[in-house]
Formats: sequence, structure tokens, C-alpha cells
Amino acid sequence: MGTYARIIGTGGYLPESQRTNEDISLLVDTSDAWILERTGIKSRRIAAADESAASMAEIAARQAIEVAGIAAEEIDAIIVATGTPDRVYPSTACLLQHRLGIQQCVGFDVQAACSGSIFALSIADQYIKTGMYRKVLVVGSEICSRVVDWTDRGTCILFGDGAGALLLEASAEPGVLSTHIHSDGQYEELLYLPNPQVASALTKDDVGFINMRGNEVFKVAVNTLGRIVDETLAANNLDKTAIDWLVPHQANIRIIEATARKLKMSMEQVVVTLQHQGNTSSASVLLALNEAVRDGRIQRGQILLLEAFGAGFTWGSALIKY
Ligand code: UT7
Repeated sequence: MGTYARIIGTGGYLPESQRTNEDISLLVDTSDAWILERTGIKSRRIAAADESAASMAEIAARQAIEVAGIAAEEIDAIIVATGTPDRVYPSTACLLQHRLGIQQCVGFDVQAACSGSIFALSIADQYIKTGMYRKVLVVGSEICSRVVDWTDRGTCILFGDGAGALLLEASAEPGVLSTHIHSDGQYEELLYLPNPQVASALTKDDVGFINMRGNEVFKVAVNTLGRIVDETLAANNLDKTAIDWLVPHQANIRIIEATARKLKMSMEQVVVTLQHQGNTSSASVLLALNEAVRDGRIQRGQILLLEAFGAGFTWGSALIKY
């Protein structure tokens, strides 16, 4: 019998301060009605000045550790997905390791934009399946508000801050059933976040804000997520009716609805959190998972399909028996 990576704890953190659609309509030419209708978002959280990807990650991670009932020192590896690290180096995972008071483990970051948490989960799953590590902490943490151009109505309506975490442990019981991750660099110009300090004359990216051609991203996202759903079901020889919960990346309600339609799932079986937190990039799937686990919607033994799509483009899914 193989070894599975089983979820033994989840955690999440959203900053205190909310920025509503009305608040944003004072900054750019938009309205609550437009944002709600085109995205499903009502408000998002904005981190305080003294918060960061690492500080939010710590709160989410401590919650997951507490739920799992383990000591932080038992963790073998920390994998943090973030596109908004406190520092380019050390990695946010190293900062988090120190914050958690762990000396003997490995930590590193994964950068796959909004798909980051699925990539991190996939990596963690491989380590556990091969027997290299037994307990792996996966975190997605993003402080998007610092890299959003608050004068650009095409992006500032979408993004928010937050962190999600999960703890995986080696187990004879399933577990993560499969993960599927992909990337295609040809779409670089449709969605990117420059690194202005190292931008070359070639790219002329002198400001570190998210650049997005939203409508084009939208179309690729819908098609791609449809394909990854098929790939995931085929790999597990499962019919769509086997899925109890869709836990999608929270970018736009219309993208989520398209995926649910493809699965012939009622929206009752889809975890939607974007209305109160917007798109938290790599934190989004883990925050949604944590919310539905905590409020009792997701129960042990159920089959979950996690999926995400982001800059790169990158995309991925995970099928999990919770
Ligand atoms: O998480 C990583 C992946 N990212 C995504 O998945 C994001 C995907 N994209 C989206 O969610 C959507 O494309 C947006 C919400 C960003 C935009 O919605 P859309 O339905 O694609 O609108 P659009 O860009 O096609 O623009 C339609 C119209 C335009 O006006 P005209 O040219 O028709 O007169 C825009 O100028 O809506 C206008 N518009 C706005 N109006 C009011 C664009 N943004 C706004 C706004 N408020 N905030």
C-alpha cells in the first residue's frame, strides 16, 4: 500500500481592514454594481502597515499547526507560495521557519502566481509519497495591495491580502489522490508583476504594479480550467459526480461558475469566498479550503477538487480525499 499525503490541519488569516467596492469607487471610475456584476466581489482585506506576507503566513500556519495538534518542531519542510515576498531573499519560508521557532527543517518559496498554492501542494505531495518527508507545511501568503496600482480600475477592483495554510502528513489512508501542474510562458504579457529594481532597458518595467489584460486572461482561464478538470478526472478514472466540493481559485465568480457548469455541479457544492476577500492570489484556494473546513461544509471522507490559474500562465489542480 502506498503512502498518501493527508491534510491534518488548515489555517487562514485575513487582515482586519476591509476595502469595499464603494471605497474603491472613490479612487477610480467604477461602481459597486459594476464590480459585483462582473466579478462577484463586494470587499477585500487590506493588510496594515506592519503586516507582511511572512507575518500573515505565521498566523495562518500557527492555526494549521494547532488544529493538527502537532509541535512545530515536527515539521520536516515548509513550502510557501507567494508573489509578494517580504524580501527576495531570504525566502518567506525561511522567515516563517524562524517565526515558528523551528531550527531543523527545510524551507523554500514557490513562485507560480495565483497557482502557487497548488504547485506547493504538489511538491509537498511528491516529498511525502517518496518518503523523504513526513510532515510538510504548505502556505500561500500575499500582500497584493502593495503591488496593485490603485489608479487602475482593471486590476485594483480584484485583489486582496491574506494567507492560508495546510499541514500534510504521511498516512496509509488517502489523502491527496493526484495533483496536476502546468505552465505556458507564451502569455507573459497578459499578466505580470515587474521587479523594477532589476528590470532591464529591454522590459522598461520601472514600476512594480500588477499589469493585466483582464478580458484576455479571463478567456484563457475559463478554457484552461475546463481542460484541467477533465485531466484530473481522467487520471483518477472518476466521473464528475464523484466530486463533493469544488474549491477553486477565487479570481472572478464568472470563471468559477463556468468551471462548475462544466462539472455539472450546483453552486451549493462550490466554495466561494471571493465576495468578502477578493483575489488573494496564491492564498486564495487555501483560504477557501480553510473556511469550508472550519464552518463544517467540508467533511472527512469527501472528495475535493482544488484548482487554480494564474500568471505565467500557470495552472493546476489537486484531487483530495479529505
Ligand atoms: O487570478 C489570476 C487570473 N486573473 C483573472 O482570472 C482575472 C480575469 N479577468 C477578469 O476577472 C475580468 O476580465 C475583469 C473583471 C478584470 C474585467 O471584466 P471584463 O468583463 O473582462 O471587462 P472588460 O475588460 O472586457 O471591459 C468591459 C468594459 C470596458 O468598457 P468599454 O470599452 O466596453 O466601454 C472597460 O473599460 O468595462 C470597462 N471597465 C470597467 N468599468 C467600470 C473595466 N473595468 C471597469 C471597472 N469599472 N472597474
